[in-house]
Amino acid sequence: MARGREDYEKNPGLLKLLQTLSFLIVFVMGVVIGLATRAHMSRYFGSQTENYSFINHLSANMPHEEKTCTIVPVSDKVDCMSMETFLQPKNLTHGLSDDELFWRASMVPRKREFPFERVPKVAFMFLTRGPLPLLPLWERFFQGHDKYFSIYVHVIPGYKLNVSTTSPFYLRQIPSQPVSWGTVTLLDAERRLLANALLDFSNERFVLLSESCIPIYNFTTVYEYLVGSNHSYVESYDDPGRYGRGRYRRKMFPDIKLHQWRKGSQWFELSRALSVYIVSETKYYTIFSNYCLPACYPDEHYLPTYINMLQGSLNSNRTVTWVDWSLRGPHPATYGGDNITEDFMQSIRNNGEPCQYNAEMTSICYLFARKFAPTALEPLLKLAAAVMEY
Ligand SMILES: *[C@@H]1O[C@H](CO)[C@@H](O)[C@H](O)[C@H]1NC(C)=O
Ligand SMILES: *[C@@H]1O[C@H](CO)[C@@H](O)[C@H](O)[C@H]1NC(C)=O
Ligand SMILES: *[C@@H]1O[C@H](CO)[C@@H](O)[C@H](O)[C@H]1NC(C)=O
Ligand SMILES: *[C@@H]1O[C@H](CO)[C@@H](O)[C@H](O)[C@H]1NC(C)=O
Ligand SMILES: *[C@@H]1O[C@H](CO)[C@@H](O)[C@H](O)[C@H]1NC(C)=O
Ligand SMILES: *[C@@H]1O[C@H](CO)[C@@H](O)[C@H](O)[C@H]1NC(C)=O
Ligand SMILES: *[C@@H]1O[C@H](CO)[C@@H](O)[C@H](O)[C@H]1NC(C)=O
Repeated sequence: MARGREDYEKNPGLLKLLQTLSFLIVFVMGVVIGLATRAHMSRYFGSQTENYSFINHLSANMPHEEKTCTIVPVSDKVDCMSMETFLQPKNLTHGLSDDELFWRASMVPRKREFPFERVPKVAFMFLTRGPLPLLPLWERFFQGHDKYFSIYVHVIPGYKLNVSTTSPFYLRQIPSQPVSWGTVTLLDAERRLLANALLDFSNERFVLLSESCIPIYNFTTVYEYLVGSNHSYVESYDDPGRYGRGRYRRKMFPDIKLHQWRKGSQWFELSRALSVYIVSETKYYTIFSNYCLPACYPDEHYLPTYINMLQGSLNSNRTVTWVDWSLRGPHPATYGGDNITEDFMQSIRNNGEPCQYNAEMTSICYLFARKFAPTALEPLLKLAAAVMEY
């Protein structure tokens, strides 16, 4: 090998000839394969081939997609290039690497009108370590609203969610990677959830949840609140103390300046437009993965800082996920079975302090709440209909 390479270097003419030759061979092979595929497609899909030719073209450049399609027979007559598969992957188990996935998810149609009836959906993205102890409450929340949501679950690799085949959580696990809390791998998992959810063109809003989160309003209220909002809900504030500005690293200068540094809850809600920015962005992600090391936590600073710097006008700067920090420790309060009362639930739903929503004020500040222990499930199910209205 080494000798051969030397020869090429000494003979630029020979190298050029070989290059031209191999280019020609690849080109001819491409044409032959293209023609063969076309003939094959026509046999199966007849006149429809014409309608979908732009997708054929796309797929020809995506060997991974094609591979995934051929090993994933959903039915006998699987059509890997149908509009349906293109708009909304049916099987969430794919073989894409993060790089490939983020690239694919970063695509935005230039054409504004959709060639199909698009019902905007809310993507509920669960970032969990394993089981979902509050699953029955969520299943009740989602009941009867199938067309308006999609669920994505990121667990530790190898863990298999045990849910019934009729559950909306059935087959909604995405290909996951190990996550260590407090490191950039947590941010990676959030971006992986976003990217998977972006593959469904109907998803319009993207909310990140944990296994200890619960919905505190019914589905209709949550859906209309999010889909009707002009802003995303990423908490972003300037904390002058050691847990805020104290986590800024001087090596981030001059790309990120101290006065631009922000803090906020990890549990975000994003519009589609902002989600695309997040999965496409590499500059600030790289700075954070290099310099935001403990006691700097990327999950609490990357989104609040990035959005503050570049997309501030799209953000409400507040969160829709309630949490109780009144204990003043490093962890928020966890509510168990004994703590669940009607008064308590009502006070989270409406504490008398209105919030800004679009150009108006509303009594609804929070749509979700954390943290709830598994023992809270039974009392919550009892209160769900009367208090949370689902
Ligand atoms: C494909 O195009 C043909 C005419 O070229 C039309 O009759 C047919 O309905 C189209 N199919 C779809 C699925 O749009
Ligand atoms: C989804 O695809 C994976 C392989 O990529 C396969 O193992 C699995 O059976 C498929 N699931 C369904 C429901 O087709
Ligand atoms: C899965 O859940 C069902 C019903 O909740 C239970 O009977 C079964 O033992 C569970 N399987 C595993 C592997 O945990
Ligand atoms: C949120 O903060 C940004 C600055 O980062 C600001 O431009 C925007 O107006 C704020 N949003 C609201 C709703 O006040
Ligand atoms: C929950 O209830 C327990 C037992 O009554 C109590 O000790 C604890 O302080 C309560 N937790 C909160 C956050 O109110
Ligand atoms: C939302 O934003 C659009 C465009 O900026 C504006 O036309 C519309 O009035 C806003 N809606 C509300 C309710 O503020
Ligand atoms: C959902 O909640 C809203 C506001 O709390 C309420 O007005 C509506 O009646 C509820 N819908 C159902 C179906 O219970």
